[in-house]
Amino acid sequence: MVRNSEQAIIRFLSILRATEPPQYVSGEVLARRAGVSRSAVWKQVRRLRSYGYGIDSMRGAGYRLARNTQSPVPWELKNRLKTRTLGRDVMYLGSTDSTQSIALSMANKKLRAADGLVVIADRQSSGRGRLGRKWLSPQGGLWFSVLIRPKMATAQVTVLPFVAAIAVREAIVKCTGIEPRLKWPNDIMISGKKVAGILLDISAEAESVNYAVIGVGINANIDASMLAPQVTSLHGITSLRTELGHEVSRLDLVATMLESLEYYLDILAKDGPTEIISAWKKHADMLGRRVEILSNDGPNYDGIAFDLEEDGSLLLMLDTGKKIGITSGDVRVRY
Ligand code: BTN
Repeated sequence: MVRNSEQAIIRFLSILRATEPPQYVSGEVLARRAGVSRSAVWKQVRRLRSYGYGIDSMRGAGYRLARNTQSPVPWELKNRLKTRTLGRDVMYLGSTDSTQSIALSMANKKLRAADGLVVIADRQSSGRGRLGRKWLSPQGGLWFSVLIRPKMATAQVTVLPFVAAIAVREAIVKCTGIEPRLKWPNDIMISGKKVAGILLDISAEAESVNYAVIGVGINANIDASMLAPQVTSLHGITSLRTELGHEVSRLDLVATMLESLEYYLDILAKDGPTEIISAWKKHADMLGRRVEILSNDGPNYDGIAFDLEEDGSLLLMLDTGKKIGITSGDVRVRY
């Protein structure tokens, strides 16, 4: 769905991009070509700047597109995506409570948003993390939720967060060159510090899934110290900007992640979880190590994390020699 205001921006940008490299276009020509008044031209320039485009203005010459945006605005994202379904509809918000809540409410029976809807926000006031935790979501991070309507047996949904984690990892590798590691269940880590997390909400019947919303939080261009309250005794927190020493394009990051996500979702649908679980294991460095499992509602365990089941549960060898499967909780790795 292309909204009216979006169409006006796309039209305006295409006028500014008519020459390569972009040249100055006078306000008068812009107004005429876009079919708007001179004051509407100025408003549009301000809007583009607020979306992160660099627009030079020169008295007597007009306006020139000096720099493209790196923000995940829908018209650029849709243009860039080579996906079949994911990101065909994008909702981009400056600020919201939680993209997860928005996507979930849009998925319900009344609104029935389409398969592949992506909701992105610059800031969240009530971002949600796993196990009912709060997820701090200041400006500069990449906070988004993806609605999917997979033809999938309910028993397989536990694999979805692993699919998302490998897609986030792959996007970070491709966009930054950094090679994050994965930590059970769904954390993406750089040098032992958490850089991104995944949240899954589903609506399912006994046999099949109605829809799933995959929430992704990537600490992209933020100061990691702003996230201090999120630091736990389990791990520190970092951001891509902190690791790289410069900003990353959130537009590239979300586009690459959605392409990877669609690719791995197709593999899951076609071949089942085997390849997903083995891709996850390849990038996890906790297997074979002594860990402590901290459970929200059950007992805590100590043992060697030795494998992952096809449903994503973590296999633990207790000191007694007994093997158990863990389906939820947090892990502290003892290095
Ligand atoms: C975790 O605890 O590791 C999961 C964090 C997931 C955060 C993302 S940010 C976008 C989406 N909206 C939310 O409210 N949460 C998820």
